[in-house]
Amino acid sequence: MSNSWLVRFFAVGMACLTLGLSGTIAANAQGVRPPAAPAAPPPPWMDKSLDADARADLMIHEMTLDEKIQLVHGAGWGVLREGAPVATGHNGGAGFVPGIPRLHLPDINLADSAVGVRMAAPESRYATLLPSVIGMAASWDPDAAFLYGSVIGRELRAQGYNMSIGGGMDLIREPRNGRNFEYASEDPILAGTMVGQVARGVQSNHIMGDIKHYAVNDQETGRNILNAVMDKRTLRETDLLAFQIAITMAHPAGVMCAYNHINGDYSCENETTLNQVLKKDWGFQGFVLSDWGGTHSTVKAALAGLDMDQPGDDNFFSDPLKKAVQDGTVPQARLDDMVHRIVRSMFVNGVIDQPPMPRSVVDPFRGRDDAQKIEEESIVLLQNTGGVLPLAAAKTKSIAIIGGHADKGVLSGGGSAQVDAPGGNAIDPKPGSSPWCKPIYFPSAPLRYIREQTPAATVTYDPGTDSTEAAKSAAAAQLAIVFVTQWVCEGQDVATLSLEDKQDDLVAAVAAANPNTIVVLENGGPVNMPWAGRVKGIVESWYPGIGGGEAIARILFGRVNPSGKLPVTFAASDDQLPHPKVTGLTERTGNNADAVTRTQPRQRPQPFDVDYNVEGMAVGYRWFQEKNLKPQFAFGFGLSYTRFAYSNLKVDADAKSVSFTLRNTGAQAGNDVFAELFRRLAHLRNTGARAGDEIAEVYVTLPSAAGEPFRKLAGWKRVSLAAGASQTVTVALDPLYLSIYSPDSDKWSRPAGEFLIEVGGSSAELPLRSTVRLAAE
Ligand code: BGC
Repeated sequence: MSNSWLVRFFAVGMACLTLGLSGTIAANAQGVRPPAAPAAPPPPWMDKSLDADARADLMIHEMTLDEKIQLVHGAGWGVLREGAPVATGHNGGAGFVPGIPRLHLPDINLADSAVGVRMAAPESRYATLLPSVIGMAASWDPDAAFLYGSVIGRELRAQGYNMSIGGGMDLIREPRNGRNFEYASEDPILAGTMVGQVARGVQSNHIMGDIKHYAVNDQETGRNILNAVMDKRTLRETDLLAFQIAITMAHPAGVMCAYNHINGDYSCENETTLNQVLKKDWGFQGFVLSDWGGTHSTVKAALAGLDMDQPGDDNFFSDPLKKAVQDGTVPQARLDDMVHRIVRSMFVNGVIDQPPMPRSVVDPFRGRDDAQKIEEESIVLLQNTGGVLPLAAAKTKSIAIIGGHADKGVLSGGGSAQVDAPGGNAIDPKPGSSPWCKPIYFPSAPLRYIREQTPAATVTYDPGTDSTEAAKSAAAAQLAIVFVTQWVCEGQDVATLSLEDKQDDLVAAVAAANPNTIVVLENGGPVNMPWAGRVKGIVESWYPGIGGGEAIARILFGRVNPSGKLPVTFAASDDQLPHPKVTGLTERTGNNADAVTRTQPRQRPQPFDVDYNVEGMAVGYRWFQEKNLKPQFAFGFGLSYTRFAYSNLKVDADAKSVSFTLRNTGAQAGNDVFAELFRRLAHLRNTGARAGDEIAEVYVTLPSAAGEPFRKLAGWKRVSLAAGASQTVTVALDPLYLSIYSPDSDKWSRPAGEFLIEVGGSSAELPLRSTVRLAAE
């Protein structure tokens, strides 16, 4: 061993010693840390191998009465009402329920998210605006609906929320309802299927989903005071059927009860709809939460099946519920059931095991692409006289774009479904949250994208505020595209189906000035088009979402072949509707439901009935058939740039499915004689010019003894067909959709007799028919 090595060894040893010593000295100076206690074993309910019910029971067993009470109501209006306290842990959304850290139970942060996540801007976040729900439903594509929900779920998670309170499921019975843009359809099967898929998509992100507003919140006028009157059979076969389909498909964590009464009882204290139907008949295992301020009692609501009072400062499910449990008016078991439903839903959806992972920025490009893709499937081509569309980019020299703020962006719907526009309202940019019920435009300007499609053409813009000026600009161009808008908002209905702000005059003036006029609609629900016969093209884009401008341009120029079909009937006039006027909409009530609620009691309008037995089961298109009325555009209608032919219908012996041949004939489609001629020629050529998607619809008319003298949608399939291709399409028919509900036996059954099955591309054009005789079942 050399000396130098020895010296080094010694030095290192001393250094170690010194370090060790000094370390001990330092430790002593801070006080010696006791040996680490063995980590507490996780509580038994954190064992993921147990099922959600067992885990919930184990946790609830450890809860105090106060902790249980804390879970069954929200923490107040919070950010929704100026001056209201905001609880610690509140994520900035519409609702908050504090968790119980000692039991590993996280807070519940609830966000409005009907068409995208609401109130992102005040938190400096971004949220994707999707097309409106009615638009998404016009795709009739369950995969698009799932994608829709998964965008919402993904962004909720990225923003730190663990529950969505979107999921608008009310039937579009009242086409002037200000919330129709949040709802899917007048048909219960289409609505239930599409909204169920949205909820599945939301929940696929470990976010608790929700379906609302249960039930029959079918208009906004007087929503807090109205009594929806509907006989039991109609209720089960229409409005409730939509909920039944969505709830049994998606198993959402929450069902939000509505503001209105149903047959005499408030929705949130309605024994029939909550306990009997939702929980008993449908086996719903999640929890019922009230709409915000929709709870009206403690004992009655608790016993009828309400599980959570929101936003919770009404004092129904806090101390009063505690007292009611203590004095036995509400059994302890009922409170435990409420808590069980909430906690089990949290386990089932993974919000305890896989809590949200907030990220500073969501992926806006991914959201935009998804929104555009859904919109491209949702746009409905309503009219295409002489095959004016698609526009040929190379042949287009000049276009006059008119109205609808098409130079700035696309319109969105107002209320609690309002998403904040990036950069603020495109027509009046201001940072921060969107004002309540003001038209908000999103920066996806159709003008820009139309210009991109046809760079060599001269594309002008006129705001459309002066019909004479607009007509001049139209006259100077080869073709005119007028953007018309119908803005709607929660809490108010539109008084008529007519467009506001003299837009009908505008279209008429433009159409008179230019024979090649195309109208693009951006609207919350059906509107009247008295000028339809005077324009060549009509394109329904709904509220088209953040990818809307580009989607519209791609449809106009044929980059995308339109494929959407109407999920609602467009009446020719208000007079054709079962309720020619919105019930209760008087000068006194105004059309603002919230104003109605907040009016001083002495001025408060009297509660009123909305008699839905007028049309009963003949909701939407069924009414038009029953009354032999011709709507402007029928339910299920929509054109394509190609034409599809149906043949060879086969119905299996017990009507469990139907099959038929669908062929893409390739002919240019339109709804006039020239287009028909082209169609026939193409038919002879037997070649397709263009690939396209067709939504093939199957309707059933029950035997006459059933007392339902109209066809009802029973199934459909969205089919992609290459030019000239054909395919055998099979559509399964759920036996439930061939059944009727008997209020006497409280059962569904299939009546015996002749069932008429019709198949085609619109409720008004069904080329295939077959009858099948079935026994009762
Ligand atoms: C709406 C609900 C919404 C809630 C919370 C209510 O006024 O009806 O749809 O989820 O407010 O914002």
